[in-house]
Amino acid sequence: MASRYHEVYDGWKRDPVGFWAEAAKAIDWFTPFDSVFDAKAGVYGRWFSGASCNTCFNAVDRHVAGGRADQIALIHDSAITGTVRKYTYAELKREVVALTSVLKNRGIKKGDRVIIYMPMVAEAAIAMLACARIGAVHSVVFGGFASHELATRIDDARPKLIISASCGLEPGRIVAYKPLLDKAIEMSRHKPEACLVLQRDQLRCELRDNYDIDYADAVARERAAGANVDCVPVLATDPLYIIYTSGTTGQPKGIVRDNGGHMVALKWTMENEFGVKPGEVFWAASDVGWVVGHSYIVYAPLLHGCTTVLFEGKPVGTPDAGTYWRVIAEHGIVALFTAPTAFRAIKGQDPRGEFIPKYDLSKFRTLFLAGERADPETIKWAEQKLNVPVIDHWWQTETGSPMTINPAGLGLLPVKYGSPGVPMPGFDIRVLDDAGHEVPRGTLGNVVVKLPLPAGCLPTLWNADDRFRQAYLDEFPGFYKTADAGMMDDDGYLFVMARTDDIINVAGHRLSTGAMEEVLSAHPDVAECAVIGIADQMKGQVPLGFVVLNAGVARDTGAIESEVVALVRERIGPVAALKTVVTIKRLPKTRSGKILRGTMQKIADKEQWAMPATIDDPAILDEITAALKGRGIGL
Ligand code: COA
Ligand code: AMP
Repeated sequence: MASRYHEVYDGWKRDPVGFWAEAAKAIDWFTPFDSVFDAKAGVYGRWFSGASCNTCFNAVDRHVAGGRADQIALIHDSAITGTVRKYTYAELKREVVALTSVLKNRGIKKGDRVIIYMPMVAEAAIAMLACARIGAVHSVVFGGFASHELATRIDDARPKLIISASCGLEPGRIVAYKPLLDKAIEMSRHKPEACLVLQRDQLRCELRDNYDIDYADAVARERAAGANVDCVPVLATDPLYIIYTSGTTGQPKGIVRDNGGHMVALKWTMENEFGVKPGEVFWAASDVGWVVGHSYIVYAPLLHGCTTVLFEGKPVGTPDAGTYWRVIAEHGIVALFTAPTAFRAIKGQDPRGEFIPKYDLSKFRTLFLAGERADPETIKWAEQKLNVPVIDHWWQTETGSPMTINPAGLGLLPVKYGSPGVPMPGFDIRVLDDAGHEVPRGTLGNVVVKLPLPAGCLPTLWNADDRFRQAYLDEFPGFYKTADAGMMDDDGYLFVMARTDDIINVAGHRLSTGAMEEVLSAHPDVAECAVIGIADQMKGQVPLGFVVLNAGVARDTGAIESEVVALVRERIGPVAALKTVVTIKRLPKTRSGKILRGTMQKIADKEQWAMPATIDDPAILDEITAALKGRGIGL
């Protein structure tokens, strides 16, 4: 089939308002919008101003009313516990309504914030939908973050309630959530009024009187009482959720997502970008704590009337490298979305793909990869072993859905290995030099998006319009800065090469080296430090820390390094994956005092590097090389 991509993209460029007005017809609005786009509202304009709607209504209720009541909406497949639980749309609605009633009885109302700190259980998705139903703003915090990170988010979002669980399950390890939660509340200045805690059989926890509420008991009471709570109308421009993502400091950025634009954008992507039809089974193998989980485990598939899969497990080790194929076959999945690192992990354990023919993958049509750079070797391996198109696509927490993809629904364009595809409607992507001038095709530069950002993207940061402007809009006036470096080729395909800030991408998880440096420097023996991301065969990148100790510290450096590693795990969480810290005498700096992190990274990654002209003392780089060599890193 010839691709309709150019026709559709050009159509959007000619008439953006007409494009979004047409896309908005796929959503049920309680009252229509005054304007598709109000350029005067918000920081750079707002989508679907004046409309009222409800995201839970569109994701659940309208499917129950519209003939999908008995279709499976949500499958919780836990490869860790070996259990599968399915909810039809009608059952999902019952669960969501019961939980909404619990929230309502606790005094939660439109605009209140609720933090959801949960493992990959169905109740995490139910909690998100219950918040949406009542107009409360949820903020899901990834379970791999520890107390300090959770406390930071509690202080910024100021939730009335936290919904959590007794434990999460990692391979070979039960993660006790309750102590992490209690400690976070102890550390935070803002104190939520209560916690709703789901007791899991693998590890139950103590519930404090008059503060912790048993999730199952509370929901069962509402269910037995036949509670009913209708969807609360909210404005299209009201916030649906806040998701925190790494910034350049330890203070994470609260990305705001609205209701109306978000629904319109996600619904459009399911059919046109992912090529999936209502009623089909879609699986995003991510975590609800990440944006991929928000958009493509919960909201997009449900808005589209699909069956979605919430998977608790890993691509390998739960129990083996055939798990993904088992899930695809068992649930009749047509499209899988995951991060390249998952495929590198599978390929590492089953390089010949011997698990694949053991399963019936006849319904499986397309594999989508995003979250980090997809190396062509991994794409080719997956294409060859699975015999389906493998689509790399590029986006960010901020955008909520792909900025570039090879659109399966519009008809695939020729694949170019190493490129995450072409810009989607709404995204006018340009590449600029540091002075803000557009560079010729094929030239590396700053990847930016011409304002306004389309429906579905962040309108601002939570309670921080100025920080939003400063972080994203000020550097290149008239454009949104993605903080990715890349280039566009002559055919309009984008190539994304690296971040221009200190964010690194570890196993598809976005982490700030700046935030890690704040933790390293909190160790009492550390005078100065630097954290860089170095190449890793499976995870893409991993962090590597350098510390310079205070003068006169005579302790064993190995012990200090272990303490620093433990401190990062304690303050940020295991997901930071900092395993190596190297003690050095001095950090390489420019004459103006800037740490030469880029050169250190090149040394560690055995890349070609040139002596920076501005270096203060070139001998330091020899010291770094020797210190890394002692750890088996670099040359
Ligand atoms: N709760 C608690 N701890 C968690 C966690 C969670 N939700 N998620 C990860 N962790 C822990 C892991 O157990 C690990 O701890 P360890 O240091 O004790 O081993 C640590 O955080 C690092 O996790 P991760 O980087 O995921 O490494 P891993 O070795 O456990 O798994 C992969 C590697 C490739 C199998 C895994 O990253 C994966 O499945 N990736 C799929 C892609 C993905 O989900 N991307 C997200 C965005 S799309
Ligand atoms: P996150 O906000 O966690 O989704 O991370 C977004 C960042 O991940 C982007 O800014 C990129 O740096 C990187 N990224 C995401 N998808 C891709 C991709 N397909 N290719 C290269 N980098 C990607």
